[in-house]
Amino acid sequence: MTTEHEPLVLGIETSCDETGVGIVRGQTLLADTVASSVDEHARFGGVVPEVASRAHLEAMVPTIERACAQAGVRLQEVDAVAVTAGPGLAGALLVGVAAAKALAVGLGRPIYGVNHLAAHVAVDVVEHGPLPEPTMGLLVSGGHSNLLLVPDVTCDIRSLGATIDDAAGEAFDKVARLLGLPFPGGPHIDRAAREGNQVAIDFPRGLTSGRDMDRHRFDYSFSGLKTAVARWVKAREDSGEPVPVADVAASFQEAVVDVLTRKAVLACREHGVDDLLIGGGVAANSRLRAMAQERCDAAGVRLRVPRPGLCTDNGAMVAALGAEMVQKGREASRLDLPADSSQPVWQVSA
Ligand code: KG4
Ligand code: ZN
Repeated sequence: MTTEHEPLVLGIETSCDETGVGIVRGQTLLADTVASSVDEHARFGGVVPEVASRAHLEAMVPTIERACAQAGVRLQEVDAVAVTAGPGLAGALLVGVAAAKALAVGLGRPIYGVNHLAAHVAVDVVEHGPLPEPTMGLLVSGGHSNLLLVPDVTCDIRSLGATIDDAAGEAFDKVARLLGLPFPGGPHIDRAAREGNQVAIDFPRGLTSGRDMDRHRFDYSFSGLKTAVARWVKAREDSGEPVPVADVAASFQEAVVDVLTRKAVLACREHGVDDLLIGGGVAANSRLRAMAQERCDAAGVRLRVPRPGLCTDNGAMVAALGAEMVQKGREASRLDLPADSSQPVWQVSA
């Protein structure tokens, strides 16, 4: 149920390769439209920033129009415009921020420049209702692997840890490439792993030894794991034996998921937080969802995972955070707000 006096917020997301426009009224999702340029990057095996920026430019107006049509609202009805100000690819962010400013000026409405990571957490309000305060956020995608303590998603987010090298999704993509699977590799590894044995190969669990747990308690590292997989595959190939793709995929996936969930649940326990929210593209991983559920159940932690379409980058998450900010009376951004490619996570709004 939405009521007319709840704020109608349009959100724009362009931090990577998805042009997302979402419309939210209060905590109700009215539209979520995404145009992705992922196919244009596939042959390069990763996102090419200039290609992404150009694609955002071309997709922006049609995506806004589709969102309004889907929501059944006219642009003039929008109460506020929210946009990802950072972190992300500089050129890509600029397209979204410029579009949001143009809309805000044209409509005479406030603009909220918001943090992409905070938006990944906030999006769950449209699916599972108000966020418990505090919530623990585990964000895992091609660009980030963060463990966040979130007392208030509109103004107070604390980073407990992050990857010190590759992001979790990046590790999935690189290992998929090693195994001859297409980009983006996560879903292909997930599928291949279902036919494999997850204990076939004992791959390393990064930053989990005693000393590492002292210095990097809630940090992640996946580049050593990726190298271990590459070495293992090469040794197989050199000896002329076939590579057991399903077993490698399952064992690699197990190593990633084990460390992600182990540290997330530990963070909940040590910080006295009862709710864990997992977001980002890797949250679509079937083994991550299953192991997180098992470990949360064992630890008495409630698990929230938005549906896959809301876990990957989208405009609804930006609109959702914008609407939370309006409802909590947070200050709007200035019209000269910058796009900040390395916006720190604790800076929720620009
Ligand atoms: O959030 P997202 O769409 O974009 C950003 O990187 O911000 O995440 C994309 C990442 C890719 O690395 C992709 O391989 C990974 O999410 N991914 C998965 C799965 N689905 C997508 N990783 C593991 N298992 C999956 N089922
Ligand atoms: Zn993201």
